Amino acid sequence: MANINLYNSAQFPLEMHKVRIVQKLNLVPIERRLAAIREAGQNTFLLKNVDIFIDMLTDSGVNAMSDKQVAAMMEADDSYAGSETFTKLDNKCKEIFGKEYFIPAHQGRACEHILSQLYVHDGNVVPMNYHFTTTKAHIVINGGSVEEIVIDEGLRVNSDHPFKGNMDIDKLKAVIEKYGSEKIAFVRLEAGTNLIGGQPLSLSNMEDVRKVCDAFNLMLVLDASLLADNLYFIKQREEKCKDMSIREITRAMSDLCHIIYFSARKLGCARGGGICTNSKDIYLKIRELIPLYEGFLTYGGMSVREMEALAVGLDETMDEEMINQGPQFIAYMVDELQKAGVPVVTPAGGLGCHINAMEFLNHIPQDQYPAGALATALYIASGARGMERGTLSEQRDENGVEPFANMELLRLALPRRVFTLSQVKYVIDRISWLYENRKLVGGLKFVDEPKNLRFFFGRLDTITDWQSKLVAKFKEDLGESL
Ligand code: F0G
Repeated sequence: MANINLYNSAQFPLEMHKVRIVQKLNLVPIERRLAAIREAGQNTFLLKNVDIFIDMLTDSGVNAMSDKQVAAMMEADDSYAGSETFTKLDNKCKEIFGKEYFIPAHQGRACEHILSQLYVHDGNVVPMNYHFTTTKAHIVINGGSVEEIVIDEGLRVNSDHPFKGNMDIDKLKAVIEKYGSEKIAFVRLEAGTNLIGGQPLSLSNMEDVRKVCDAFNLMLVLDASLLADNLYFIKQREEKCKDMSIREITRAMSDLCHIIYFSARKLGCARGGGICTNSKDIYLKIRELIPLYEGFLTYGGMSVREMEALAVGLDETMDEEMINQGPQFIAYMVDELQKAGVPVVTPAGGLGCHINAMEFLNHIPQDQYPAGALATALYIASGARGMERGTLSEQRDENGVEPFANMELLRLALPRRVFTLSQVKYVIDRISWLYENRKLVGGLKFVDEPKNLRFFFGRLDTITDWQSKLVAKFKEDLGESL
């Protein structure tokens, strides 16, 4: 919120927007919620929206759009080639990132597909602060592997480090020395590490990473999907940036990278994606693949209406008053849950509030998916849908061995400008109830396990019928409440 001091109340996040279009929500009874999660194979991805009250699965493609974005969609130029809409978006990306070339793609993983196909070959390694599910899958499909070299603090659930997403520079040098720079496809930084709690990286860290890249002649690639939150954190937490504008910080980050790609389902509050670079050589290589996999070079698989919305959305992202909403709501949720004793990732990051399922359900072993079990329990207790970000989101190795995730998190995403503070308070209340009754929650096991990205479609079952007991306790404590 802006610089507003409250007279009679503790500080709380104040929305700097008003709601002009609404969507009705339903909260179905707890018996239906129990049936729905069973029908969904205990996988929150497979729930249907009619059964969901507060959808905190993701912020992907579901951030609220502004009136200006929606208005811009009406102007879209449909021409297959040479569309004016593309020119607008192209110019906006050039203006914001200061890169000569912008290549559109239909979403973030499409950019990952193209970059991995071009640059990752058998036996290659991609050092990164932390992986994202689709990123890793594309690298592995192309014969490469991932080295995660986030600073040690990044893997501590609770810490007061302001930039837990930073890359460890010594580990980066060690990885390059171990494999030899010729084996490194590129170095990847994720601005706002998705899987470890939306934790940001600092501009200084990026500068240090770039120095190492230069010393070994390596390409630096930035995944800017979660850039908006990261920009806010840099502005708030990095001393040397406190007098810089959001635009200046964006430009400083961009100038350090050879390639920037992003999911516009997150960055820019629209649906799409793109890759930016200053190198003509890189541009020409990528250009070959776009008409093959995405669409003609002036839309890249995106709807022109979304491109219009994205051009406006990117511009609005440069406004601190706009990008502070997510992090401030998340911080509120994290603070309130901490007051109730609930274990959460700290400091509060971007994207959403992350509950530490390893501690919340410390009686459930990792091979029974505590974060997945917590996601089902919270859905039953509240109708709120979160996303498992732990072992279930990992993939078995070539020998069928299941790697245990570093953290078992239940991510409760806060799509920007979508939920009101009272809805957030409701979810906090239900989580607090669940925490008091955590011993009732049991584990899960796979009954149908896909090989790739199993968390999307996998079906599971409860190990015992603990969910019926949870429903009975809910009725005992809360009566006939929905
Ligand atoms: N990189 C990051 C850091 C992401 O968070 C995502 C998507 C992608 C790449 C892929 O982009 O979905 O447009 O293909 N994250 C979503 C999420 C799915 O829910 O966190 P996409």
